[in-house]
Amino acid sequence: MEIPVVPALVLIITLSVNNVWRCVCYTAFVFGDSLVDAGNNNYLITLSKADSPPYGIDFSPSGGQPTGRFTNGRTIADIVGEALGGKSFPPPYFAPNIAAATAFRTGINYASGASGILDQTGTLFIGRVPLRQQINNFEQTRSYMVNMVGENTTNTILKNAIFSLTIGSNDVLNYFQPSIPLFGDKVSPTEFQDFMISNLTVQLKELHRLGARKFVVVNIGPLGCIPFIRAISLNILGGKCSAKVNALVREYNKKLKEELDQMNNNMGRNAIFVYANSYDVFREIILNFPKYGFVNNDGPCCGGYFPPFLCFKGKNANTSSSALCDDRSKYVFWDAYHPTEAANLIIADKLLNGDKSVCYPMNIRQLYNYMI
Ligand SMILES: *[C@@H]1O[C@H](CO)[C@@H](O)[C@H](O)[C@H]1NC(C)=O
Ligand SMILES: *[C@@H]1O[C@H](CO)[C@@H](O)[C@H](O)[C@H]1NC(C)=O
Ligand SMILES: *[C@@H]1O[C@H](CO)[C@@H](O)[C@H](O)[C@H]1NC(C)=O
Repeated sequence: MEIPVVPALVLIITLSVNNVWRCVCYTAFVFGDSLVDAGNNNYLITLSKADSPPYGIDFSPSGGQPTGRFTNGRTIADIVGEALGGKSFPPPYFAPNIAAATAFRTGINYASGASGILDQTGTLFIGRVPLRQQINNFEQTRSYMVNMVGENTTNTILKNAIFSLTIGSNDVLNYFQPSIPLFGDKVSPTEFQDFMISNLTVQLKELHRLGARKFVVVNIGPLGCIPFIRAISLNILGGKCSAKVNALVREYNKKLKEELDQMNNNMGRNAIFVYANSYDVFREIILNFPKYGFVNNDGPCCGGYFPPFLCFKGKNANTSSSALCDDRSKYVFWDAYHPTEAANLIIADKLLNGDKSVCYPMNIRQLYNYMI
């Protein structure tokens, strides 16, 4: 489908009620997994945590201290928000003492490491917040907003906010891990992709029912190329990615694009679902890494090439328990699963400003300026 992009208009809402909120701002509600978790898992009992150095070493708002972000610096969601004038990063939903007004000013981050579209995903890590529960948590935030400013104003604010979902990688990782008997051989790759799509569709419709109108759905990246998959499929040497894993991801992404296209057609101008093609962008970086200034495209900067890939420092700051590369800006991967901030900066720039091969039917900057 083709959607005309209207010229940039900025909506100004000024509320003097309780002085709650008075700004022209970028508001984002962030859902997803560890690629965008801004610290929610710090509040859970879980094996999936990024709460020790050197995670966050390049994150200046925390002075280089870990925040729960699973990378050395900013996530893609952070960088996109900053570029669109976000006042500060949407805080984790679980952070204590967040003023309810924060939801108006910046939005909230509900993302959780190890989580997936399917409720069962990530069981091995114990604590994590599956997508369905992330959306239940948003419903709580929405109730606060309605209590403060009423139903109509809440809807006006939500209608202009960006709802991003970066999820699905862990579902696929679990599918390929033989130690997790949830799906095993019983479900074919095709059936598995269809479960993911239909469950995701239910959640997107639920968000729409709660007032979300501007959606960014980030597809799954080239998981077959992450150091973890290369290692377990014995592709450490030779720079090969797992063709099997990437094939399943590509087929899922194709179905996702079709589903979002369908939803755009069905909802007309009542909502926009942007398909963000991180797969092709990230694949291009891995293939042509020198062009982007990288010297390493297949190994983690932190934690080593072999299981268990631990990336953390011991209590004595001088005894590093894990290898840390010399120049973090020269590595595509931060740890065995996640990109560095350097890679995130390139991906975020393409998602913000790219053409229709990257974001369809419009890029994130155009979506932000779009009037529903
Ligand atoms: C909320 O919007 C509805 C529909 O536009 C309108 O009928 C109603 O009067 C509004 N309520 C308030 C409190 O403004
Ligand atoms: C969601 O996925 C599960 C498998 O985890 C499947 O049994 C169920 O039918 C799916 N639900 C929908 C609505 O597609
Ligand atoms: C740690 O390293 C710094 C500089 O490399 C040094 O000055 C300091 O004495 C070391 N501390 C310990 C406990 O070894």
